[in-house]
Amino acid sequence: MDERLFFPATEKNRGPIGEVLSKILPSNGFVLEIASGSGEHGVTFQERFPEIHWQTSDPDPFYRKSISAWIKHQGLNAKMPQPLDLDVRERPWPLTSEFRSSLKAIVCINMIHISPWCCTQALFEEAGNLLGKDQMLILYGPFKINSEHTSESNARFDQSLKLQNSTWGVRDLDVVSEIGMKNGFDNHDVYEMPANNLSVIFQMR
Ligand SMILES: C[S@@+](CC[C@H](N)C(=O)[O-])C[C@H]1O[C@@H](n2cnc3c(N)ncnc32)[C@H](O)[C@@H]1O
Repeated sequence: MDERLFFPATEKNRGPIGEVLSKILPSNGFVLEIASGSGEHGVTFQERFPEIHWQTSDPDPFYRKSISAWIKHQGLNAKMPQPLDLDVRERPWPLTSEFRSSLKAIVCINMIHISPWCCTQALFEEAGNLLGKDQMLILYGPFKINSEHTSESNARFDQSLKLQNSTWGVRDLDVVSEIGMKNGFDNHDVYEMPANNLSVIFQMR
């Protein structure tokens, strides 16, 4: 049985996100992807950055099956570790000491608006504990700027998220950045992405 899931948005955003990553990722070491979902981003970036060890993760077993199926389908079993069962709220995260010492960056695509705010806080707190000076936490998704949506479609998306779960919603970049500062991250770089999304790069002081 083919357990791969196909998330249509990943078809469109993997290229642009990969372009940003190509400018900022270190040339080797381990990258931890939080909330890997289907696993399509994980295998795409592992193939694009072969010197890096791309560690996927997700708390949902259904998604982890899809990630494993994608790893196998792409012939990456020898290269890529199996996904970790990682919920950002459950700390410390289940990482070996070898992994911690080789960790170079953390990537989190489309999670912080589709999870309660405490997940964003936990993400920054644990990333701040794990990453060293100049290392990066890379977020991708829709953001409000100065409390305003950047497009009508993001405003509608925000409403639909809140109808599904009142603790979800498009986050304000200033508020996210404040949490970053509290946890050791400097001012962030912002890349405008297609479909009114942003890549936001937080670097450790
Ligand atoms: C919209 S999906 C994004 C998946 C993938 N990153 C993508 O862009 O296609 C949101 C993901 O966040 C994950 N997630 C939700 N709550 C989480 C938590 N507390 N810790 C880690 N991941 C979480 C879900 O399991 C899901 O995979």
